[in-house]
Formats: sequence, structure tokens, C-alpha cells
Amino acid sequence: MKILSIETSCDDSGIAITENLRVIASAKWTNVEKHNEFRGVVPHEAKRQHNEFLPKILEYLKQQIDFPLSEIDYIAVTYGPGLAIALEAGIQFAKKLSLELDKPVIAINHMVGHIYANLVQDANGNPLSELATLEFPVLVLTISGGHTQLVLMKDHLEFEIIGTTLDDAAGEAYDKVGRMLGMGFPAGPDLEAAAQKGNDIYEFPRPMLKNKQTLDFSFSGLKTAVLYKVKELVGKYNKDPKKKEIKIVSEGESLTEQQINDLAASFQSALIDSIISKVDLATIQYQPKLIVVGGGVIANQTLRIKLEEIAKKYLVKLSYPIPLYLCTDNPDMIAAAAYFYIKQKEHNKNINKYIFTPENLNDLDRDPSVNLDNF
Ligand code: KG4
Ligand code: ZN
Repeated sequence: MKILSIETSCDDSGIAITENLRVIASAKWTNVEKHNEFRGVVPHEAKRQHNEFLPKILEYLKQQIDFPLSEIDYIAVTYGPGLAIALEAGIQFAKKLSLELDKPVIAINHMVGHIYANLVQDANGNPLSELATLEFPVLVLTISGGHTQLVLMKDHLEFEIIGTTLDDAAGEAYDKVGRMLGMGFPAGPDLEAAAQKGNDIYEFPRPMLKNKQTLDFSFSGLKTAVLYKVKELVGKYNKDPKKKEIKIVSEGESLTEQQINDLAASFQSALIDSIISKVDLATIQYQPKLIVVGGGVIANQTLRIKLEEIAKKYLVKLSYPIPLYLCTDNPDMIAAAAYFYIKQKEHNKNINKYIFTPENLNDLDRDPSVNLDNF
């Protein structure tokens, strides 16, 4: 089964052409400099980029494959969650291709993509992350710029959310703290590099760690604690007694490199401790056969090591996408999810509502805030 998959949920414009789980050709474009200039993703800029680059990427991929696009069986596209106008650009592109090629479109949930990224295979059909199949029950940790959730899967494409962040996602906390420390966007990789050079000397709160009654996360208190410490260190601690707010000052410019590294190490240690404590608790409660992790933050080496320790402690298998490009947003993961949507549609009739023929394309719409348990 050949699938052409499109991913535009945020700032990456990506297309993959796959056969089953095997990636035949794939490419994506991200304008890192533009996002650094604005210290974040600007939705209109992302949309403009998708509209400009999707046709160019498709032209490029056509040169990489030795069959015509008419041999594609399905077109897959991310319909949510993500930035509305960015999703819309991908959906419009998918609809146009669907009419041109007379092929059905499958609307894919981006977070399902992050989970199935673990099953993506290389051009020769070898698993890229050591995992050939899912063994249920699976405990999933999704950890990205927009999500931090614990999810229980009893079968393919069946999701029960058992824990979620009450405020910021973990990646968002990395990006916001990175910004306080004067780093570019996204800050995860730079913050991790700084943490490796620093020492865990500042005592930051480990949110929800002690509360064994819940599998939820919370990172905004930790983020604020880092902000207070930054202000204390740069000597510009400035609290407005009426509003009870602290003003953002200097953004790291007065911190020494050592202070930045130590702040990064202390923040990362607190955040990872919080995550690990909930994965530990969920593993005890749900006794999974396999723990699967997906999303940009699992690119982090320290998080990987701590999760390996949990897996060893409970003798559970662990999988995360090994190549870093499969952790962050990419079109290959949408293709892997699409393969299972199609494969499972006989068992799970619910899936048919995500499949659109060229005749009913009008019903295909974005859903920027769709959750995994809407399945
Ligand atoms: O999955 P992703 O590419 O996009 C979303 O769906 O959100 O995740 C992006 C997030 C960003 O917040 C980025 O800072 C974070 O993943 N990230 C990392 C690392 N690499 C990317 N966080 C911590 N350590 C990293 N090495
Ligand atoms: Zn993502």
C-alpha cells in the first residue's frame, strides 16, 4: 500500500512517500532563522511557508521515486491538533492532490503520528527504532511542545488518557525557560547542551511529585521558580505588590555562562524528575508490556537514560524513536499512523469517519484542539 503523507501542524512543511511502513522518499522544510527572529512560531509565517514549500517538496520527491504519483493508494494529512491556519494549508494541498489523482484522503491525528513514529522503517524495510510491533497494553508518554500526556493503549488506535499536564507542556516549559536564559527557538536542544555543562545546584520544585493520587503533570510553577532565580541572580528582582507579578528583565544577558548552565541543569533535573515519577507510578498501576514515547522532548538524552532506568526496574520494554528527526515533527510518522488507520479500519469502524473520497472532501476539516481520546 503506497501512501503520500503531508504534515503541516506547526512550522515544519513535510511530505513523505511510503510503502506500508517503509519510507521510500521524504523531505521537510523548516525556517529556523525566521522563528529565531520572532522567538517563536508565527502562524501566518508558517502558513506562507507551507504554501510556498509543499509544491516544491512534492516536485523534489517526484524525482526521488521510480513510479508515477498515480500509483499512490492514499493521501494522508494531519488535521489536528496544531495551528489552525498551518493545518489548513496542508489540508488544502491534500484536497487538491486528491482531486488531481482521484485518491482518498485520510485525516490523521498528529499525536497518533508521534506514537507510531516508533514503527517507521527505513528504505529497506528495517525498523529505525528497534520496535517491529506494539505489544499491548502499551503505556504511552507523549511529550512535545504542545502535549505532555500519559495514555493507555489496549489495542491499535485505542487511546485512554490517564494523565495530562494541567498547564504548560514539557517542551513549552523548555522553550520558555530557554527564552529566559537568552536562547533561540525552539530552546530544547540548546538548553539540554547547557544542562550537560552545568550542575544541579538550584533547588527547584518538583511539581506533583509527591502526589501519588494523580498521573497529571504541572510545569508552570517550576517555570516561575526559574524566573525568580534568574532575577535574583541578575539583581533585578522586581515584584509589583499590587499585581503580584514579576517583570521580565534582561533575558539572560546579565547571567554568567556558568549560571546559565547551572540554571539549565537544575531546571532539567526538576522537570525530568516530575515526568519520571509519573511514568513510574503509571507503570505500577497499569502493568504495561511496553512503554512507548513520542514527541520532540524525547530527543533529550537525559530523559532517554532515565526512562531506560524505569524500563529496567520494572522489566518492561521501552521504545522511543531513535533518530532525532523522528522525535520532532516529521511526515514519516503521519505515514506510519496512516498505515495503521487503513489496516485497522475493518476492526475499528470508527476509523471510517477519517477517510474521505474525492466526492466528500468538503467534509474534511481541521480540528486544532482535537484530543487523543476523541477516537
Ligand atoms: O514534537 P515537536 O517537534 O512539536 C510539537 O508537536 O510540539 O516538539 C517540539 C518541542 C519543542 O518544545 C522543543 O524545545 C522540544 O520539543 N525539544 C526538546 C529537545 N529537542 C526538541 N526538549 C528537550 N530536549 C531536547 N533535546
Ligand atoms: Zn509534534
